[in-house]
Amino acid sequence: MSNAAKFGKVAVLFGGKSAERAVSLDSGQAVLEALLRSGVQAEAFDPQERSVTELVGYDRAFIVLHGRGGEDGQIQGVLEWLNLPYTGTGVQGSAIGMDKVKTKQIWQGSDLPTAPYRIITKDSDLDAVIADLGLPVIIKPVHEGSSVGMSKVEKAEDFAAAIEKATQHDAIVMAEKWITGREFTISFLNGQPLPVIRLQPPADVAFYDYEAKYQRNDVEYGIPCGLSEDEEKSLQALCLRAFQAVGAEGWGRIDAMQDEQGNFWLLEVNTVPGMTSHSLVPKAAQAVGYSFDQLCVAILEQTLTQSA
Ligand SMILES: Nc1ncnc2c1ncn2[C@@H]1O[C@H](COP(=O)(O)OP(=O)(O)O)[C@@H](O)[C@H]1O
Ligand SMILES: [Mg+2]
Repeated sequence: MSNAAKFGKVAVLFGGKSAERAVSLDSGQAVLEALLRSGVQAEAFDPQERSVTELVGYDRAFIVLHGRGGEDGQIQGVLEWLNLPYTGTGVQGSAIGMDKVKTKQIWQGSDLPTAPYRIITKDSDLDAVIADLGLPVIIKPVHEGSSVGMSKVEKAEDFAAAIEKATQHDAIVMAEKWITGREFTISFLNGQPLPVIRLQPPADVAFYDYEAKYQRNDVEYGIPCGLSEDEEKSLQALCLRAFQAVGAEGWGRIDAMQDEQGNFWLLEVNTVPGMTSHSLVPKAAQAVGYSFDQLCVAILEQTLTQSA
């Protein structure tokens, strides 16, 4: 039996119905090709086009669905029912990770630093929110990824339009204190942090927005990240606690910032981060010697030790 045969028939789940479908199609195709090159009997499975009941008959699943439906515990729950082992985080951790507010509440409850925020409803007193958080703030839909529907607000008069924009993507919207400083992302493999990457969006964008993430090639990725060895270790340790606090498992990514005073602030956890060959987790894994193909197989190996 070849080594890859131990995986049996693998459904690579990608596509889906979320706002991040296009990103998932790219990531999933890259993972599928990597697994096939590694001799794994892998097949594409787009739950937008086929009934999930057709997953019966596969031996395990590699989840490369981003956003709602695929990263939030729904497909994980289906796979639990079907007794199919799957990559990454389980139902509860996925549901928490998809919700930026629930994630922050857990981090706050675990004494982990996350930027101050307020949930915005139609009854919110925006002046009071500005008084609490100061300006600028960043407005975010609570359940989206890929910077969809987000804006930086520098002036009180722009607040309402930013909320309106975010509301088009999500019924629940939050305002978060703007952190001025450097941005980092911490990838996980086998539940352990990989080398930290610094993200430096081009000077003409306010933040690492959708376009900077997927359409431009002038974002700078710092690896090594420029932190001292001690600082990098403490950021990795902080993120490991944050990863475990939300119940994330296996692989994933945490976004964080460092303010001008040197304090770290956790932004969010991604339980199914991007997996194109130029995505962040592959870059971090490459720094410790994993090719993209080896990384995909290593993520899939997590499913061998799961009791389905
Ligand atoms: N509090 C903040 N202060 C400054 N920039 C932020 C803040 N929160 C998010 N950003 C910027 O917005 C980007 C997207 O935010 P994030 O919370 O990671 O959501 P997602 O990646 O799910 O869209 C971050 O990568 C960062 O560039
Ligand atoms: Mg992010």
